[in-house]
Formats: sequence, C-alpha cells, structure tokens
Amino acid sequence: MKGTTPAGTSTQQEASHWVREMFGRIAPRYDLANHVLSLNLDRRWRSATVKRVQHILRQPGARVLDLCCGTGDLLIGLRSKSAASVMGSDFSHPMLIAASEKTARRGFMCPLFEADALVLPLSDGSFDLITIAFGLRNLVDYQAGLAEMYRVLKPSGMVAILEFSQPGDTLFGKLYGFYSRNILPVIGGALSGSRDAYTYLPESIGKFPSAGGLADQMRNGGFQAVEFIRLTGGAVALHLGTK
Ligand SMILES: C[S@@+](CC[C@H](N)C(=O)[O-])C[C@H]1O[C@@H](n2cnc3c(N)ncnc32)[C@H](O)[C@@H]1O
Repeated sequence: MKGTTPAGTSTQQEASHWVREMFGRIAPRYDLANHVLSLNLDRRWRSATVKRVQHILRQPGARVLDLCCGTGDLLIGLRSKSAASVMGSDFSHPMLIAASEKTARRGFMCPLFEADALVLPLSDGSFDLITIAFGLRNLVDYQAGLAEMYRVLKPSGMVAILEFSQPGDTLFGKLYGFYSRNILPVIGGALSGSRDAYTYLPESIGKFPSAGGLADQMRNGGFQAVEFIRLTGGAVALHLGTK
C-alpha cells in the first residue's frame, strides 16, 4: 500500500508516468469537470482549508508552497487571503500553464515550478506552510510524499492535506459509493473526454488510507499535533500537522 497503482501499471515509474500523462490530458477541462462532479463543493473544501491556515498566512514574510497545485484554485485562495509569498508546483506542464494563465487573469504573481512532489528541488526547512489538495492520493508512495513535505517544512511549519476519503458505512456512504463508481466516470468522462481518468478517481480513493489511517501515517512521518476534520459527510478530509 505504498501509493497509487493505476490499472495496467506494474511499477512506480509506470504509475507516475500514467498519472502525469492523464492529468496533462484532462488539464483544459479539469476545472469544469471538478465543479460539476462535486456540485461546486470543491470550492467550499478549498475555502475551509484556507480558513484553517489563515494564522500562518497572516504572519509577515510567511513562505507557503501549494504542492500538486493543478490549475491553481487553492493557490489563488491562499494568495488572495494574504500577502505571504505563495508558490505552486506540479509535475504536469499543462496544469501549470492553466495555473499560470488563471493567476495572471486574477492579477496575482505566484511563482510556479514543475517538479515531482517526491523529489522537490528545494532546501530543507524552507516553508512555513505546505498545502496539498487532492494530490497526495496520486503519489506512487504516500509515505515518501509526507517525508518530502516534512523535509522542506521549517521546524514548527504546518502541513494541510485536503483529500478524498471514505464516508463509511452510512446511507450517505452507500449513495456516494454508487455515485462515484457508476455515475461519476460517465459524466467525468463526457466532460473531460477521458473516461479512464474518472474510472481511476474512485479506484484511487478506494486505495487511499482512511482519515484515521492517514493521521497515523502522518504521525509515523514525524508530524505532531495531527488532527483532521471530515467534510461533506466524510467524502473529503482535511488533515493538519506540525513539524
Ligand atoms: C486532482 S489534481 C488536484 C489539483 C489541485 N490541487 C486542486 O485542488 O484542484 C492532482 C494534481 O496533482 C498533480 N500530481 C500528481 N502526482 C504528482 C507528483 N508526483 N508530483 C507533482 N504533481 C503531481 C497532478 O498533475 C494534478 O495536477
């Protein structure tokens, strides 16, 4: 259970290549598919994340990195609430192009760089805050991803991980399970032109640790004061931890 294993891949290298290529392919329609499939709740999940880290965003000179930034929605949310230096990174070039166009349209200057979240070209102890929204689940080694975040955080720095989770054995959980396995791939496929991307989505969520399991992995990785809140009936969880 190291990390994501898209169907048809058998090594970490193949899995990473598959994920990168898939996100590159859906980048132009990613936002539309996201907003439609989540009924716009994705905006609320990111806002909840920004709210929980506001105390760091207010610190003068705070340095913030949004990992796996995609088209930049969380990056913009973070930057719009602070004068902090907020930068974004992703390993998909088309996603970064979309993020760069969007930040420019909104009038924000946010440095962006292309990098694998598992091997960041950054010095130890560089950031006060690292955020990652719907990115960790796509890494080929979750624990290695957490370790890399830990490495580049300053002592006392904070990580905020927003990710899909499993709602559990409730009525909502059953309905959500049906929706994500049967409806989401069809609508997501139609909107993005890439059915496999939206078949992969529920598969990768199913493979990802539960909220409690992720909290344990964070503690194993050295994070302290680990806590999480469940959002939308547990379909999503926001984890926080301190170095
Ligand atoms: C589901 S999208 C999330 C994008 C954005 N954070 C959001 O909230 O919409 C996942 C992003 O993670 C990126 N990603 C996946 N694996 C990565 C890795 N190993 N290194 C860097 N970026 C990665 C993908 O390219 C994609 O842009």
